[in-house]
Amino acid sequence: MLFPAGSWPTDQEDYPAEAPVTTLDLADILDSGLPNPTIQKPKADTTSAAWTLLDEHQRNRAADASLRSRIADRNLMSRTILVTGGAGYIGSHTVVALLERGHDVVIVDNLSNSSPKAIDAIEAITGRSVVFHEVDLTDFEALGTVFEQHPIEAVVHFAGLKAVGESVEKPLWYYRTNLVSTMNLLEQMAAHDVWELVFSSSATVYGDPEVLPIPETAKTSTTNPYGHTKLIIEEICRDLAASDKRWSFSLLRYFNPIGAHRSGELGEDPRGIPNNLVPYVMQVAVGRRDQLEVFGGDWDTHDGSGVRDYIHVVDLAMGHLAALENLEPGCEPFNLGTGTGSSVLEIIKTTENVTGASIPYEIVGRRDGDISTSLADPTKANEKLDWRADRSLDVMLADSWNWQSKHPMGFDDQAE
Ligand SMILES: NC(=O)c1ccc[n+]([C@@H]2O[C@H](COP(=O)([O-])OP(=O)(O)OC[C@H]3O[C@@H](n4cnc5c(N)ncnc54)[C@H](O)[C@@H]3O)[C@@H](O)[C@H]2O)c1
Repeated sequence: MLFPAGSWPTDQEDYPAEAPVTTLDLADILDSGLPNPTIQKPKADTTSAAWTLLDEHQRNRAADASLRSRIADRNLMSRTILVTGGAGYIGSHTVVALLERGHDVVIVDNLSNSSPKAIDAIEAITGRSVVFHEVDLTDFEALGTVFEQHPIEAVVHFAGLKAVGESVEKPLWYYRTNLVSTMNLLEQMAAHDVWELVFSSSATVYGDPEVLPIPETAKTSTTNPYGHTKLIIEEICRDLAASDKRWSFSLLRYFNPIGAHRSGELGEDPRGIPNNLVPYVMQVAVGRRDQLEVFGGDWDTHDGSGVRDYIHVVDLAMGHLAALENLEPGCEPFNLGTGTGSSVLEIIKTTENVTGASIPYEIVGRRDGDISTSLADPTKANEKLDWRADRSLDVMLADSWNWQSKHPMGFDDQAE
C-alpha cells in the first residue's frame, strides 16, 4: 500500500473543493485530529488502500466516542486523576484520553525519559490545561506535597524505567527506581485517603509462555530485573488489596504498544538508540539510522522472525480509561493486546508500504532472553472492561510514520 502524491482524499477544511491537491501529506489522510471532517470525493486515481485507511480512521474515532459515551452513561462524575509518568509515551496518550473524557489531570514526572514539550502537545490537542509537577517519585516528601495540593481521587501509575537490557546491567537502579517509587506512591495514597490505582504492568510477566494466546491465568515468571520489578509490584498490590478492602487495583499487562496520536504531534520519542522495534524502524525510514538488525531468523514462526502482539497506543490509552472507570475493590490483572500477532519481517514490509521508504535490514543472532511469540488473550478485558483494541497494523504504522516524519528528531526538533 504505497500512496502516490496527490492521490489522497483530503479534509475539506484543509483544501476547498476547487483547490488542486498536489502534495503528499500523511496528516491530511490521518484526519489531523479535526473534530468532524467532511471528506471530499476521491480523485479518480485514489487508491482503494488510501480509502480503506481513511475509513478505518473514521471507524476508530467513532469507536472511541462510543466507548467514552458508554463510560459516561455509567458514571457521570469527572474526577481528579494523578498520572505518574504522564509526560512519557503511553502516559501522554492516556492523559489526552482522560482530558477528553472530562477528567482533571495532575502529572508527576521527573522528565528522565521525556520532554516537557509532550505536555504542550497534550494541551494543544485537547484545548485543556494540565497541572504538571517535575518531581521524582523516589522523593517521598516532594510526592506528598503534590497530594496535599490537589484533590486526587485515583492514580494511573506509568512512571518507571523500562529497558530490559539496561536493567540487566544496572539492576539496583531499576529496583530502587521502580520499587521505591511505587512504595512511596502507595504510602502517600493511603496517607491521603486515595485507594484506586491503575498500574502499568507488562506481558513480560509471562516470561516464555507455555500457552498461546496467553490468558491472565497463565503462569508468571520473568528473566530480568525489569520484569522482576513488575512482578514484585503486582504482588505488593495483591497483598495490599488482601490487607485492606478499601484498595482497588487494576494491573494492566501491556503487549507491544506502537503508533502515535493521529495529529502527529504526540508519539514515541526514545532517548538514544531505541530499544523497541518500531521506533527503530521509523528512524531508519526517516534516515536517522542506516539499517535494522533482526534478532533471529530461525524462530518457530511462519517466517522465522519473532512474532508480537502490537497494539495502537491510543487503543491502549482507552484501555486505561475503561480500567479506571471499572475499578472494583481487590486486585485484577488484565491483558491489553489485540490477540493478533505480526512478525518482525511483516513490520518491515508494512512500514515500507506505508512510508514508501526502503528499510535495509540484516538478520543476526538471537538475543539472550528473547522469545519466539507473544500473543495476548484479551477476552477478559473485552468482556469485563467493555474495551477492545481495533486499530489495524496499517493504521498503527501510518500513525507512527506521521509522527516520525513530522518530527524526525522527536520533540527536540520543535525548539525555536
Ligand atoms: N512501551 C512499552 O513497550 C511498554 C510495555 C509494557 C509496559 N510498559 C510500562 O508502561 C509504563 C510507561 O511506559 P512508556 O513506554 O510510556 O515509557 P516512558 O519512558 O516513555 O514513560 C515513563 C515516564 O516515567 C518518567 N519517570 C521515570 N522514572 C521516574 C521517576 N522516578 N519519577 C518520576 N517520573 C519518572 C519518565 O520521565 C517518563 O516520562 C512503564 O512503567 C513501562 O514499564 C511499557
